[in-house]
Amino acid sequence: MKHKIFLTGGAGCLGTSIIDALLPIGHEIFVLDNFVTGKKQNLPNHPNLTVFEGSVTNKEHVSKLFSEFKPTLVINSAASYKDPSNWKEDSETNIIGSINIAKASIDNNVKKVINFQTALCYGRPDITPIPIDSPTKPFTSYGISKTAGEQYLMNSGLNVVSMRLANICGPRLAIGPIPTFYTRLKAGKSCFCSDTIRDFIDMEDFLEILSLAITKEIQTGIYNISTGKGTSIKEVFDEVASYLGITAPVVPILPVGADDIKEVVLDPTHTEKKFNWKAKYDFKQTIIRQLEWYDKFGVTDIYSHLSSQKKN
Ligand SMILES: NC(=O)c1ccc[n+]([C@@H]2O[C@H](COP(=O)([O-])OP(=O)(O)OC[C@H]3O[C@@H](n4cnc5c(N)ncnc54)[C@H](O)[C@@H]3O)[C@@H](O)[C@H]2O)c1
Repeated sequence: MKHKIFLTGGAGCLGTSIIDALLPIGHEIFVLDNFVTGKKQNLPNHPNLTVFEGSVTNKEHVSKLFSEFKPTLVINSAASYKDPSNWKEDSETNIIGSINIAKASIDNNVKKVINFQTALCYGRPDITPIPIDSPTKPFTSYGISKTAGEQYLMNSGLNVVSMRLANICGPRLAIGPIPTFYTRLKAGKSCFCSDTIRDFIDMEDFLEILSLAITKEIQTGIYNISTGKGTSIKEVFDEVASYLGITAPVVPILPVGADDIKEVVLDPTHTEKKFNWKAKYDFKQTIIRQLEWYDKFGVTDIYSHLSSQKKN
């Protein structure tokens, strides 16, 4: 089935890869983005793509755009995170924005909403890999606001598939240790590693599960999207150094920052069963594919939702 997809935050890292994957197979896409972290120039010119510059926080806009476009599917990819002290912007985009999207979806009889959620919703988890039924205990502005937004959606009565995502690597990745180490090591600058462990997943694996979420008869639920394998930031550093042919310099390993979490690795078991899906790329393959992409296209921006890393 060809969908009319309303995609919030479509100019972002995930949004643009989703567009690149879904336009060629005949879906029609409407993007609503305020270009706070996404970039207009990353959106292709295509007869089946409409782009509107505006915010999910504007209820009147959202409602008008929905009733004009009449989407059959909504993908909620907009998010605010880049200034951890800007609680207002995070709440407006991640909570009020999600409410506006939920209400407009109800009013327009949208059959499915796919929402993206951060693993920070689990806060400091009791168990890793983190099972899907773990409690949500966010403590950062991004995590708190995204969790509230997800809860409004999950309780809206709509058919909502909320994907709690590992760190997705792919075109235009602008957040986390990989672009940071690549840029700094290439420029001969010093680096440090936080003493933390994260899970990374390849964009192609993410796009495959997204495509299943679009096509399969899946009822409302939340799903961890991950390989289930953790990698330390020091291992990320070593891989980048080795890829660049640099004898890995001695690098300080800093204790976990006050706003950071030692280990965040999602357990995808429930998702694998439900979707009959499994990530194909391991970490080494994923990071090499990412670094090859940077070699071709470069790193444009680097964002972090951690205040402890802004000083770097
Ligand atoms: N990329 C990942 O690895 C990852 C991991 C966990 C969760 N997520 C979630 O996936 C989604 C997409 O993330 P991303 O990596 O593409 O981030 P991104 O910053 O590249 O994309 C977010 C997009 O939302 C837009 N935006 C921000 N505020 C908006 C507003 N008020 N109205 C309209 N648009 C707005 C930005 O301009 C940007 O284009 C987010 O919801 C994020 O929380 C991503």
